[in-house]
Amino acid sequence: MRIHRQLGFLASLVLVIHAGPIPQPVVDYGIAENYLKSFYNLDYRRPSSTGREPDPLPEKLKEMQKFFRLKVTGKLDKETLAVMKKPRCGVPDVAAYSTFGGSPKWPTNRLTYRIVNYTRDMLKAEVDDSIRRALKVWADVTPLKFTRISSGTADIMISFAIRDHGDGLPFDGPQNTLAHAYAPSSGIGGDAHFDDDEVFTFSSPRAKCYVLFLVAAHEFGHSLGLSHSNVPGALMFPTYSFRDPGRFSLHSDDIRGIQSLYGM
Ligand SMILES: *[C@@H]1O[C@H](CO)[C@@H](O)[C@H](O)[C@H]1NC(C)=O
Ligand SMILES: [Zn+2]
Ligand SMILES: [Zn+2]
Repeated sequence: MRIHRQLGFLASLVLVIHAGPIPQPVVDYGIAENYLKSFYNLDYRRPSSTGREPDPLPEKLKEMQKFFRLKVTGKLDKETLAVMKKPRCGVPDVAAYSTFGGSPKWPTNRLTYRIVNYTRDMLKAEVDDSIRRALKVWADVTPLKFTRISSGTADIMISFAIRDHGDGLPFDGPQNTLAHAYAPSSGIGGDAHFDDDEVFTFSSPRAKCYVLFLVAAHEFGHSLGLSHSNVPGALMFPTYSFRDPGRFSLHSDDIRGIQSLYGM
C-alpha cells in the first residue's frame, strides 16, 4: 500500500517534470522558504503527515508582498519571485530577530569606527573613502560625529568576510545577501559585515558589482538604529539599486528616520 502511494507520487512527479510549463517548480519554493525564513521570521515546519497544521507560508508571503507593494496574493507568483532574487541586505524586514532590533540608539553622538580588514576588489584608499563618505551621509543630517581608529574596539567595527564568520549568520556566497549590520549596543552592536563573495566597486554601475559606498551607507543606517523602509527609493529599502555615488542624496524618508533618533 505504502509502496503504491510512493510509486504514485513518483509517477506524478515524473508527469509534472514532463508536463512543460510548471506553475510552481520545487526549486522556487525552496527559494521562497529560505527568503521568508531569513527576512520574515518564517518558522517553517514541513506540513505534518496528519496535515492538520496550516501551512504558514502563504501568510508570510502576503506580509512580504505587502512590504514590497506587490499584489498581495499569498502565492508565489513571478513578480514575487523576481523580488526574492534581487540582491539585498541580510537584515530581516520584520524586526523579530533578537540579534537585531531592540530599542536601538547610541547614547552619545560621538562614535568611533574601525576598518578591521579589506576586500581585495578595491584599493585600500577606495575602501577608506567609501566608508568615510557612507558615514558622512548620516553625519550630514544629524549631530553625529564619526572618528576613525586603527586599533582596539570601535563602536562600529567594519569587516569583510565570507560564509560562516563567527556571528551565527553566515553569508551565502555570490549574490543575494550583500551585507548585514547590527543595531546599537555594546559588543557586536553597530558592527557592519560585508559579504566578500560579492564584487564591490568604487563607483561602477556594472551588473553584479555593488558600489561599496551605497551598501555601506545602508548598513550604517542599521548600525545607527534604523530598520528597513518600505519606501521605494529610500536608502533603507532592503534591495540594492545602483545610483551614481557622485550625485547621491539621502531620501526624505531616511532623513526623517535618523532625525527621529538623533535630532538634526
Ligand atoms: C576579517 O575580519 C572578520 C572579523 O574579524 C573575519 O571574520 C574575517 O574572516 C576577516 N576576513 C579576512 C579576509 O581575513
Ligand atoms: Zn538593511
Ligand atoms: Zn556577520
